[in-house]
Amino acid sequence: MESFSEKKQIIKAVALLKTKKQVIGLVPTMGALHEGHLALVQRALKNNDKVVVSIFVNPTQFDNSDDLKKYPRTLLSDIALLKTLSNERILVYAPTVDDVYEGNTVSESFEFDGLEFEMEGKFRHGHFDGVGTIVKRLFEIVKPHNAYFGEKDFQQLQIIKKLVEKHAIPVNIVGCPIHRETTGLAMSSRNTRLKPEYKNAAPFIYKTLTIAKQQFGIKSANKVSEWVENQFSNHDLLELEYFIIADAKSLKPVKRKSNKKEYRAFIAVYADDIRLIDNIALN
Ligand code: PAF
Repeated sequence: MESFSEKKQIIKAVALLKTKKQVIGLVPTMGALHEGHLALVQRALKNNDKVVVSIFVNPTQFDNSDDLKKYPRTLLSDIALLKTLSNERILVYAPTVDDVYEGNTVSESFEFDGLEFEMEGKFRHGHFDGVGTIVKRLFEIVKPHNAYFGEKDFQQLQIIKKLVEKHAIPVNIVGCPIHRETTGLAMSSRNTRLKPEYKNAAPFIYKTLTIAKQQFGIKSANKVSEWVENQFSNHDLLELEYFIIADAKSLKPVKRKSNKKEYRAFIAVYADDIRLIDNIALN
């Protein structure tokens, strides 16, 4: 499997593949790959000749320097995992911060029509400018035909679709379903940092979401939110940061339910010092 640490190398490799009319998929990741990432890569392998997997812990999307420092970095085992999927059809781009940011590690400022001010945008200052900056750069470097993102970061997925629309970037964005552990816990690279007692407690998040979904059929969004907040206020280990029922398109919190709209519930929870997010389609 070819692995590159410099953008000029990956640019050259992809240009060569394109002269051979190969269809290129991109799966952007921050590494510490788990089955959720592998499902994205597998999906990309189905629909593309070659798949570039980028592995880069992007500093500009972290609002918390401790989180950035502790983010797991496991490049060698990531590469070994990718090899189990395909040795010939995957290219890894694992750059340094300097290769990407060329000595100027700052975000561009973006407008995403208000999507950036909801939920994660409220709690992680500057996060989506950082995500927009790195994803736009990866699109410029790799120039993929298709790019794959998980619905666990549903707000990020909507923002990337908006980025592509606003900047007329010629790439097809493919959203892929959330991958869960057998306990229901949404897969995340951060799960590896959970101490055993918190790992045991964390499936409560998805369990609560599934009950909230049932309740949403018969109760108002406010009543469902109150119920969820109560569940967490009685919990010893998990601390709720937000639970929001929002329009799946605009991501604005629901005021009055309409049969014509799609809704989703979004949640962020602290398990010790580890922040976990999840979401569920409600109708
Ligand atoms: O979802 C992630 O892992 C990151 O936000 C992404 C899209 C790879 C950008 O750094």
